[in-house]
Amino acid sequence: MSSTVLFGVQWGDEGKGKIIDVLMENCDVIVRFQGGANAGHTVEVGDEKFVLHLIPSGILREGRSCIISNGVVIDPIALVEEIKGLEARGINVRNCLQISNRAHIVFPYHKLADAMKEDAAKDKSIGTTRRGIGPAYSDKASRVGIRMAELKNIDRLESLYREQAALYNEKFSAANCETLDIDSAWTELKEVAEILAPLVTDTVYTINAAIKAGKKMLFEGAQGFWLDIDHGTYPYVTSSNTSVGGACTGAGVAPKHIDEVYGVVKAYTTRVGEGPFPTELHGQEGEDLRQAGNEFGATTGRPRRCGWFDSVACSYAVMVNGIDKLAVTKMDVLDNLDELKICTSYMLDGAETKEVPVSAEDMDRLEPVYETMPGWKTSTVEVRSWDDLPENAKAYLSRLSELLDCKIGIISTGPHRRETFFV
Ligand code: GDP
Ligand code: IMO
Ligand code: MG
Repeated sequence: MSSTVLFGVQWGDEGKGKIIDVLMENCDVIVRFQGGANAGHTVEVGDEKFVLHLIPSGILREGRSCIISNGVVIDPIALVEEIKGLEARGINVRNCLQISNRAHIVFPYHKLADAMKEDAAKDKSIGTTRRGIGPAYSDKASRVGIRMAELKNIDRLESLYREQAALYNEKFSAANCETLDIDSAWTELKEVAEILAPLVTDTVYTINAAIKAGKKMLFEGAQGFWLDIDHGTYPYVTSSNTSVGGACTGAGVAPKHIDEVYGVVKAYTTRVGEGPFPTELHGQEGEDLRQAGNEFGATTGRPRRCGWFDSVACSYAVMVNGIDKLAVTKMDVLDNLDELKICTSYMLDGAETKEVPVSAEDMDRLEPVYETMPGWKTSTVEVRSWDDLPENAKAYLSRLSELLDCKIGIISTGPHRRETFFV
C-alpha cells in the first residue's frame, strides 16, 4: 500500500495524532489536508507530550516530509508559534515542512468574526474553537479569501489584507463589536509572512511526484467524520470536508491513488462543543468516563462530553468513506467498567431505526437502543497482541467490528507510542 488516508470517525479527538505517529514509522510523507488550528493532535514520545495544531503529526519522526496542503486554512501567526515551539524542543521543522501556496490564510479578523458570531448566537452557538475557521472557509467559498501564495509578495499581501480587514471592521463596528487594530496586526503578520514564505510551494506537484516515485504517503485528517460540513450534524459541524473525499480535494490527489482508508474510533464516544450526541452520558457516568479518559480538549481545554459507542453513527461513516480498517483507541479507559453499552439502533417517535436522521433537531430526540456487554476488569495497558487481550475485551472489539462490518487493524491501550499493536 502506498497511500493511506486516515481520519476520525466520530466527533474528533479519536486519537488520530497518536495513530499517525505510529503509522509514520513506515511512511515517507505526511500530508495534512483540511481544517486549521482548530485541531489538537496529541503525540506522546518518551517522556514528552506534543500537541500539534497545524503541523502534521508525522513531524516527530525524523527525516519524513511534512506537507500542509491546499485544503487547510492556515493562521500564519499560530503556525509560526507552533514551529518555534517545536524547534525549541529540538524538532527540526523548517527543513522538512512544505506549505501549499493554494491554502487560504486565517487572518486575525477571521478570529474576531468567529467570536462575534458565537457571542451573538448565545444559546444557539456552535461552540467553535474560535480559531477563525468558519469565517476563513466562508471567505474561500465567497471568493474573497487570500492564499498563502501571497506571502511571496508582501506588498500585494498587505493591500489585500488591508482591503479585507477594513470591510470586516465596518461589520464589527456596525455590530458594536471589537474592531481589529489593522496596523499593529499587519506588523505581526508581516513578520510571520517573512518566516513562512520560503516554505510556501506548489504542494500538488510535490505530492503527486512523491506518489509517482513510490513514496509511502499518509494523509492526515483533522476533526472527525460527524463534524464534516456535508455529512456531519449540521449546523453543528466544522467548515471543511473531514471525510475521505476531503483528502482528494484538499491535497490535489486522484481517488485512484488512495490505496487504503483508516478510520480512527475511540472505544467510546466524545464530543466537544454543541450539537446532538445521541449516546451522551449525563451525570456521574459521563463524569467518570471523562476523568478516566482525561477528556479535556487539546486545543481549548474544554471538558469533552462523553458517551457510549454509537455503532449506528460509525456505520454511516464506514459506508460513506469505504473504511478498510479501524484503529480503536482508548481501550484502557474502559478497563474498570462492570459493563459496557453499544448503541445498535435508535428510537425516533416510537419507531426503531438504524438510519441517522438529517436534522440536528431529530438527532436530539433520538433514544439510543443499547446492547450491554460485560466489562473485562483487567488492565489492558501492557497488552501488545490480540491474543493477550482479556476475553471480554476481545468480545467487545469483535462486536464493534461486526456491527461496523469493518476490520480492526490497530488497537491502542494508552497514549504512548508503544501502547499500540497491530491486529
Ligand atoms: P486527535 O485530535 O484525534 O489527535 O486526539 P486528541 O489528541 O485531541 O485526543 C486524544 C487524547 O487521548 C490525547 O490526550 C491522547 O494522548 C490520548 N490517547 C490516544 N490514544 C490513547 C489510548 O489508547 N489510551 C489513552 N488512555 N489515551 C489515549
Ligand atoms: P481534532 O482534529 C474536536 C468542533 C468544535 C465545534 C465545531 C466547530 O483535534 O479532532 P470550528 O472551530 O471548527 O469552527 O468548530 O467543531 N471541533 C473539534 N472537536 N476535535 C477537533 O479537532 C475539533 N475541531 C473542531 O468544538 O463543536
Ligand atoms: Mg484533538
